[in-house]
Amino acid sequence: MFSRNAFNTFRQASQNAAKRFSTQAGSAKTYNAMMGVSAAVAIGSGASLYYLNKNSAHANMEAEGLHPANHPFPQKSLFGTFDHASIRRGFLVFKEVCAACHSLDLVHWRNLVDVAYTEEEVREMAAEYQYTDGPDDEGQMFERPGKLTDPIPRPYPNEEAARAANAGALPPDLSLITKARHGGVDYIYSLLTGYCDPPAGVEIREGLNYNPYFPGGAIAMAQNIFDGVVEFDDGTPNTASQITKDVVTFLNWTAEPELDDRKKIGVKALLLFSSLTLIALWIKRNRWQTLKTRKIAFNSPKNWENKGSKINKN
Ligand code: HEC
Repeated sequence: MFSRNAFNTFRQASQNAAKRFSTQAGSAKTYNAMMGVSAAVAIGSGASLYYLNKNSAHANMEAEGLHPANHPFPQKSLFGTFDHASIRRGFLVFKEVCAACHSLDLVHWRNLVDVAYTEEEVREMAAEYQYTDGPDDEGQMFERPGKLTDPIPRPYPNEEAARAANAGALPPDLSLITKARHGGVDYIYSLLTGYCDPPAGVEIREGLNYNPYFPGGAIAMAQNIFDGVVEFDDGTPNTASQITKDVVTFLNWTAEPELDDRKKIGVKALLLFSSLTLIALWIKRNRWQTLKTRKIAFNSPKNWENKGSKINKN
């Protein structure tokens, strides 16, 4: 009696276990699917939070400056290089507009040769400026026309003079400006074209100008690019946006003069290293093929019990 009861209990238990096992097997699939969905939701919401955080409109925007739009400068793309005609026009804009206030200390006349101008053109442009040189045989400093080795002339002899002429604000050196500002070329382009009236309720101090792209909104530099402010010698329309695009391209070149060469080397390196990788994979297959394709077979001998230790003789 007792053993029969025990048997029944055991049977009941095992049946239950089997049932549970089968439902568990079913729910393992559901569990996996749910894990997959929640991982996708987690990654998706992380990505959207990141996107919203990057592109948010918030009360502090005035202080940080408006986020510049993305402009399709060719040099920004992976394999894109500078538009050298644009660098040429951009230097003209710099010389005729920006050079009144901004220095370009890291650029010398010779740097422009074969980038945007011929040597003769650069010699002529340099000779239009007077540089102090010396001392001569009598110990006197003297003035002479500029040469290829001279730097682009500065508008002010020192920082104090620059500040005094700009109501206390210092026009920064523009040699590396596209690297020195968050947003690079897009920021400089948006800044130069972004002047507008201040929104209602925003007071701009006397001598400052409203520009939503400048952190704080009030910039000491006034708008200085307008339609037709520069005449281009290649017939390009001289609209404000064209002039700005060209000067920004020029300033990007002064900050990254190696960009074209860097990308050329990059393409070569990609081609070289990807073909070396293919060759390496091919050699690896060759080296490993004897091991990878071998087959270990055990031929069971006929009547091996009778043959004793003479296995595999056939
Ligand atoms: C009349 C003088 C003047 C001229 C002309 C001028 N700037 Fe400026 N620029 C300034 C001053 C002053 C500042 C400093 C502004 C400040 O700190 O509020 C400045 C600042 C800048 C800045 C830095 C903004 C920042 O984020 O800090 C850039 C970029 C710039 N100028 C580009 C140019 C370009 C390009 C040109 C030529 C198209 C030009 N400027 C012409 C006076 C000038």
